[in-house]
Amino acid sequence: MNRKTMQPSDATPAADTALIRDLIATLPSGFQWGSATSAAQIEGAAREDGKGESIWDRFCAQPGRIKDGSNIDIACDHYHRYGEDVDLMKWLGLDAYRFSFAWPRVQAQGRGAWNEAGFAFYDRLIDKLLEAGIRPHATLYHWDLPQALDDGIGGWLSRDVVPLFADYAAEVARRFGDRLGSIATLNEPWCSATLGYETAQFAPGHTSRAEAAQVSHHLLMAHGAAIQAMRAVGSKAELGIVLNFTPSFPAEPLLEADRRAARIDDGLSTRWYMDPVFRGQYPADVIEYLGADAPKIQSGDLALIQQPLDFLGVNFYTRSFISTQQPGLTPPGELGFTDMGWEIYPQALTQHLLRITREYTPPPLYITENGMANADSVVDGAVPDQERIAYLRSHLSALSQAVALGADVRGYFYWSLLDNFEWNSGYQKRFGLFHVDYATQQRLAKDSAHWYRNVIQQYRQP
Ligand code: NOJ
Repeated sequence: MNRKTMQPSDATPAADTALIRDLIATLPSGFQWGSATSAAQIEGAAREDGKGESIWDRFCAQPGRIKDGSNIDIACDHYHRYGEDVDLMKWLGLDAYRFSFAWPRVQAQGRGAWNEAGFAFYDRLIDKLLEAGIRPHATLYHWDLPQALDDGIGGWLSRDVVPLFADYAAEVARRFGDRLGSIATLNEPWCSATLGYETAQFAPGHTSRAEAAQVSHHLLMAHGAAIQAMRAVGSKAELGIVLNFTPSFPAEPLLEADRRAARIDDGLSTRWYMDPVFRGQYPADVIEYLGADAPKIQSGDLALIQQPLDFLGVNFYTRSFISTQQPGLTPPGELGFTDMGWEIYPQALTQHLLRITREYTPPPLYITENGMANADSVVDGAVPDQERIAYLRSHLSALSQAVALGADVRGYFYWSLLDNFEWNSGYQKRFGLFHVDYATQQRLAKDSAHWYRNVIQQYRQP
C-alpha cells in the first residue's frame, strides 16, 4: 500500500490527525520511534557487582552540589528493573531505545581488568530489547567517568584518557557491535567540558575556562580515537556522536552587538564541535575569542578528530537568547517555559536541522533527545501532563517540517523514558513519559505516554 494515501483513524483528535498525516507524508520509511535514558540517571546499583565509582558518585557526595541533596545510589533501580522497563517500551510500541554504558560498571578503574558482571548486565538488557523487537542504540560516555581516572591522571584534563577511552570503545564494539543499531562515542561533550570544568554545575566541578577548552579538545580526540578503534574491530553498528544544540538568537537582530554576541555563542556551542568533527578545524573566531584559554593542540589531533561518521545525534530542547544590553534577558516565551525554565521554541529545531544540513552536509541524523521537564503530579491514578503533549506535538511538527525541507532524519528519541536523576537538579525535575514514585519505584504512564503510543500506532497503521 502507498503510505502517502493512508489516513489516521477517526478516534484521534483533529490536531493530532493533521500531525500524523504530516509525519506519514514526510518521514522516511524505516523511521525509528524511540525514547532515551542514560546509565547514571537511571541504573542505581552504584556499588554492586564490581562497579567502580564514577565522578558523578563522588560529585553527589559533596555537600551543596545537587540541589535536593540526592545521589545516584538507587536512582530508578533500573539495574534490577530493566525487564519491567523494557516491557514499558514494548507497551509504548517503540522501535528503538537509546541507553548508555557506564564505563566504571564495565571497567571499574577505567583501565585494566574488564568487569564481566557489568558486561553481563548490558548483555541481558540488549537481549531483552531484541526479544521485544526494539533496536538498541548505545552511548559510550554519558558523563560518568571512572573516578579512578580523575584521581589517577586528572581525568579529561589529560590526553592520556584518549587511548583508554578507545580501548573501552573497542571492547564494547567487539562484544556488542553485532547486536547494537548504533554506538555513539560521546553524549553532549559541550556539557562535559563547560558545565564540568568551567561553571562547576556538573562533575567534577571545576571553574576554569582554559580547562574547559582543553577538556573539550581531549573529548573530541577521544571521540575520533574511539571511532577508529571501533572500525578496526569491524563493528557492524552505525558509529557517530551526539551533540547538544541550543541555537543562538540575538535578542535585537538589528543590533550589531547582539548579532556578534550570538555568533560567538553559536561558535562556542555549535561550531566548536561541528567544525572539528566535520571539517577538521576549530572556528578561528572562537580560537581568537578564547585567547590564552584556547586549547593546546598537537599536530595530527584534528585529523584524528575528523573521522567519517555514519550518523549525527542531535539533542534539542530550547534556544539561547542573547542580549548585550540586558544580559540574561528572558526570551518572549510565546509557547511558555518548561519546569527547567527553558523557553519552548520548536521552530529553532526546524531551522537548526536545515542549517546543519546546509552548512555541514552531515551523515543521517537522529533526534537523540528532545523533551521537557514538567511539574507533574499523580491525580486519581493518572498524570495529566497536557504541557508535555503540547511540547511533543509542536516538536514533532517542527521535525516533520525540517524533513519536508530536506533534513535527513531517521529517528526520534523522546527524553526520557522515565523520570530520573536530572544531574545537579536531582530528582525534582521530571522529564519522563512514565512517572516514577521514588519511594516505591512504581512506574505510571503519564497522559503523554498514552499520546505518544497512539501517535506511533497511528503512524504505523493509520
Ligand atoms: C541532556 C542530557 O543528555 C540528559 O542527560 C539530560 O537529562 C537532558 N539533556 C535534560 O537536561
